[in-house]
Amino acid sequence: MSERDAAEVARLSEAIESILPALEDFNKFQGQDPAGRQRSLWMTALDQPLPEHGVGLQQVLRELRETVIPHGLRNGSPGFSGWVTTAPTTAGTAAALAGTVAGSQRWWVQPFNYLETLALRWLAELLHLPGDWQGTFTSGGSVANLIGLGAARQSAFEKLGRDPARDGLPPNRRWRIYASSEVHHVVNRATAVLGLGRRSVKSISVDTAQRIDLKTLRQALEADRSKKILPIAIVASAGTVNTGAIDPIAEMAEIASEYDTWLHVDGAYGLFGILDPRVAPLFDGLERADSVAVDPHKWLAAPMGCGTAFVHDRALLGRAFTTEPADYLEGAVGSGEVCSPFDNFGDIYHDFNVEQSAPSRGVQVWAILQEIGAEGLSARIIRHNDFARHLALRVEKDDHLELLAAPTLSICCFRYRRHRLKEMELDAVNEEIARRLRDEGIFVPSTTRVDGKLAIRPCYINPRTSIAEVDGLAERVRGIGDELTSR
Ligand SMILES: Cc1ncc(COP(=O)(O)O)c(C=O)c1O
Repeated sequence: MSERDAAEVARLSEAIESILPALEDFNKFQGQDPAGRQRSLWMTALDQPLPEHGVGLQQVLRELRETVIPHGLRNGSPGFSGWVTTAPTTAGTAAALAGTVAGSQRWWVQPFNYLETLALRWLAELLHLPGDWQGTFTSGGSVANLIGLGAARQSAFEKLGRDPARDGLPPNRRWRIYASSEVHHVVNRATAVLGLGRRSVKSISVDTAQRIDLKTLRQALEADRSKKILPIAIVASAGTVNTGAIDPIAEMAEIASEYDTWLHVDGAYGLFGILDPRVAPLFDGLERADSVAVDPHKWLAAPMGCGTAFVHDRALLGRAFTTEPADYLEGAVGSGEVCSPFDNFGDIYHDFNVEQSAPSRGVQVWAILQEIGAEGLSARIIRHNDFARHLALRVEKDDHLELLAAPTLSICCFRYRRHRLKEMELDAVNEEIARRLRDEGIFVPSTTRVDGKLAIRPCYINPRTSIAEVDGLAERVRGIGDELTSR
């Protein structure tokens, strides 16, 4: 029997200090993005057989420094506006490291468990959510929406006298979830995971502002009611991933109560927009929702893997996601004197979620909010919304650019255009512009479709972005477009 484990369990400063310069360098995002160009190089270096004998810590650190970190994902680079994800800021990164080392299980009454509770409370306050809602951290928007819809499922079937978490879904019954055609596709997947089926999502058309069409929603609910189809939830998108449109939450809450169904709000990206007073009224009615998803790893720039779900009915959420008693954990909750992790789990987030073990995420959100406060975050949200508006104005003044969706939040969908070009040609030109931008790696938006037209879609959530990158993108789109179409 060997006396010592093969893994180093100390010398943490030495290890971290040895990779820090590479991380600092990476964070400067200098030169061209090497990840794609040097793919064969780093892939060949990494693609080794399972080692029979480990190479030791020093070699691992060297590979991290030389091969892995320099070729990392540059979605934190100032000109990257492609997805609704960005690289974390410094406080969140440091807090994630602290959580990894000192809070590697969020159970038990200790600061990391407590900071989950505190951070959820702060988030609720920041986002104007009622203080008595139960929040829970998740790995991101996918699971946050799953939690909200899982609670909706529980509520709908309990009304029929059935516990779906315990007994499964009833046979010979049909049900429906209603969401706009702009809803994020993870909502559809959540229905699959919950056994409701993707086909149970009724896709409702949107108006010219990409918001759910309320008349069509009502018609769908009415038609289904006459067929005795059970409404499980109406989903409002509060910041769609394509254009940032915010569905009319107050009106949807009214409809949900009329049809005695659940209102879930997917605010994974957009709910932080409530901090911009110009946009805040669009979230009216939020307090009447039953559940809300919002992701700190998006606009709050928390390290990746940090979402939240809030549900108004704590007991119901518990019934939807409870883990039934497990012998090896018995006695852990609420026993007399509290002096070890076995005596008290602290807040039992594992009963409000699909995860049992989970990293400490509250510490990250706490650290970020503690650093910049509500004021610092509001300033970021307003600045990013300003970027989208500034870009929209610039686009409207330029004959060779066309605005495809006026920004509500921090997304601006536009395209290059020439009047003589047909729709199909415009799509091809814009696709080629986006491809070139990705290749250059300086200004990197994504594309999407707005009313069937291919749009260039920057989404500003990146704390490192400045107005120079916004103007730079407009100039480059115009420049590449002119070059392509003058040939
Ligand atoms: C509106 C919306 N909902 C849900 C999601 C999914 O979130 P995640 O990627 O964190 O699972 C996204 C991701 O961009 C989103 O924008």
